[in-house]
Amino acid sequence: MHHYRIKDIFTQKPFRQKVEIRGWLKTRRDSKDFSFLEVNDGSCLANLQVIAPSALKNYSDVIVKLHTGCSLRVLGILNESPAKGQEVELLADQLEVYGWAAPDTYPLQKKRHSFEFLRSIAHLRPRTNSLGAIARIRSSLSFGVHKFFQEQGFVHVHTPIITTSDCEGAGEMFKVAAPPGSGKNIASKLSPNYEFFGKPASLTVSGQLQAEVYALALGNVYTFGPTFRAENSNTSRHLAEFWMVEPEIAFCDLAENMTLAESFLKYLIQYALEHNEQDLQLFANFIDKKLHKKLEVVLKSSFSRITYTEAISILEKTDRFFEFPVSWGTDLQAEHERYLCEEVFAKPVFVTDYPKEIKPFYMRLNDDNETVAAMDLLLPGIGEIIGGSQREERYDFLVSRMKKSNLNLEDYSWYLDLRRFGTVPHSGFGLGFERLLQFVTSMNNIRDVIPFPRTPGSAPY
Ligand code: 4AD
Ligand code: MG
Repeated sequence: MHHYRIKDIFTQKPFRQKVEIRGWLKTRRDSKDFSFLEVNDGSCLANLQVIAPSALKNYSDVIVKLHTGCSLRVLGILNESPAKGQEVELLADQLEVYGWAAPDTYPLQKKRHSFEFLRSIAHLRPRTNSLGAIARIRSSLSFGVHKFFQEQGFVHVHTPIITTSDCEGAGEMFKVAAPPGSGKNIASKLSPNYEFFGKPASLTVSGQLQAEVYALALGNVYTFGPTFRAENSNTSRHLAEFWMVEPEIAFCDLAENMTLAESFLKYLIQYALEHNEQDLQLFANFIDKKLHKKLEVVLKSSFSRITYTEAISILEKTDRFFEFPVSWGTDLQAEHERYLCEEVFAKPVFVTDYPKEIKPFYMRLNDDNETVAAMDLLLPGIGEIIGGSQREERYDFLVSRMKKSNLNLEDYSWYLDLRRFGTVPHSGFGLGFERLLQFVTSMNNIRDVIPFPRTPGSAPY
């Protein structure tokens, strides 16, 4: 006999066959001769309805005592369901309990729980419909990321997590230290300044610099991994540990970079619609009635492209109140980004050519000597989802920007070598994977789209 995942029961419908399922009980409802059990095994959002007849030998001492959260195994015959709203039901002839969940202490009951409460039980929340759906969408989109790039011949590069370079130059890096005495000689036990890696090391804020190394050898590459930022941002869009997708493309300018970013985002949204419709419907029902409309707009629109200078002049002209005033030279805040893409353009917007002072050293200086070939992609409801640029490929220009950013040139001599030996114009970008998930599900808080969120003051589990 076949152990089926519930998802396969729904798609394959092995009617009149004996099947076995294993999962967790969502609810139990008793009628005169039967109990109705809703069982979920995590393979899909929908529960399988099990009918447990009172004639079963453990009916009175086991089945009527089952509660939400119990884990079980059911064997029975799959039938067409006469009931409305479901196609199949499993008529049990054997039911065994793996583990009980006491109703007075199990925190997940049949009612709806707030996302805030669920965050406090992150070890149990994937058993809820919404967090389970997010986990499946996250997994699916992760696969979609690889599929998109692999289909176009990009090489996946595993860039390091521990690094001695600061890509964004923002001083937001977590230090990596070894316990005292873990070094290779006795001096390490004595010196409080002993560095395991020979010099101070940190968790990476971005795999870009190392991705550039591989792009200048293999042409088109991407990296997709965890990145870490010690910024004290307690917003619904920031995590201290998040996942970033970073393609890096040789022989590519800023305009081509944006074209790739646009087709990448559209591909992922389409991918979710094609592979996760049942889970997306949950968010459309309970979180955002206009979810599909919102996703359609992105798929159908051609993204706007405006310069930073144009953005500032739009923002200066409106009589809309902003908490942070804007003028040429200031960085755009989330409120400005959202105003631009939600109200002015009502679709995704690329903002390009930011002042060099507010962007990192590696971005290519424009001919005006004031701005750099940067691009941020802004999305309704999210703000910045992608940040990228054409990279400075000219040795002298790069050295001069690095000096102005107070970087130690010796530490980055390997990066400068890329410009010394066979340099080429190249570009890339980083997409925040959790912000993508927020957009696709309309989940308001970024802490609910990653399994175990890390934020200032909080890293349980
Ligand atoms: O704009 P950022 O800082 O760009 C880079 O790190 C570049 N090195 C990428 C590249 O060109 N290869 O970050 C890229 C994206 C942002 O647009 C945002 O979506 C996300 O990463 N992001 C965060 N997501 C969650 N929490 C945070 N603290 C984030 N910081 C950035
Ligand atoms: Mg950015």
